[in-house]
Amino acid sequence: MAELRVGSSAHKELFCRSFIETHIPYEVSSLSWPELDEPSLARLRALPFWQEAISTERATAAKVQAQARQEPDPLVREAIALQGYEEARHSALLEAMMARYNLAALPVQQEPLPADIEWSFLRTEYGECFDSFFAFGLFAVARDSGFFPPALVTLFEPIMQEEARHILFFVNWVAYRRVQLPLWRRPAHIGRCLCSMVIQAWSRIQTARGIGEGDFTLTGHEAINADISPRHFLHLCLQENERRLSCYDRRLLRPRLVPTMARILYQALGMWEKATLRTPGA
Ligand SMILES: [Fe+2]
Ligand SMILES: [Fe+2]
Repeated sequence: MAELRVGSSAHKELFCRSFIETHIPYEVSSLSWPELDEPSLARLRALPFWQEAISTERATAAKVQAQARQEPDPLVREAIALQGYEEARHSALLEAMMARYNLAALPVQQEPLPADIEWSFLRTEYGECFDSFFAFGLFAVARDSGFFPPALVTLFEPIMQEEARHILFFVNWVAYRRVQLPLWRRPAHIGRCLCSMVIQAWSRIQTARGIGEGDFTLTGHEAINADISPRHFLHLCLQENERRLSCYDRRLLRPRLVPTMARILYQALGMWEKATLRTPGA
């Protein structure tokens, strides 16, 4: 396989074209929603995160579309605009589901766009790197436990795969963007990326400790009430992350931060489990 230099125009062509070519066209209005029995409806209604999911998808769509509008390169702009379209479609799909099954929904307030569009794009996308990783595991739990009826799994599967494409696109875009900057501007860019990673990591740690609010993917498996340990859940997230990203060109960069953090936590939990195992007669 030919080597690919990160930041080259061949790299740009590859990450943009593979993103655009793997887009699946469909209209939310043409989806047919299955009839659900009462227990399935009750399980859907009991999930606490639909409203939050719609707000997050809508806000993400607005920020991604704003980033696309200020992108000077036509190919990169086309790819980012397509991502913005997919994010808006995610929120439309969730809203259609809420309406179809009479799930309570409040009007979503559209927040004004911040002045620094690229900063907000970086924050949003590093946030997606965290949320998607855990959403992959959560979706697998809901699918494999039968919590989600198979017909709904089929409808939501494209959203999960689109999120995998989004984070794959983003890590390649951010590396490309850095190389494109003049040398003297790169340290500031690295600083902004590190800052947004730390902010997003911290907000997820807060959520996991039950301090923060607003993130649903880290705590979702509790809502689904599956009998799964945190260590097993991390293992599932790692497996699903690998599976979902494995179908794309091997030359593209992969998201590494969240899987690495998850692997470290997984090993640490394993050591903790071993250390706390009681020996017979102890
Ligand atoms: Fe999305
Ligand atoms: Fe996304």
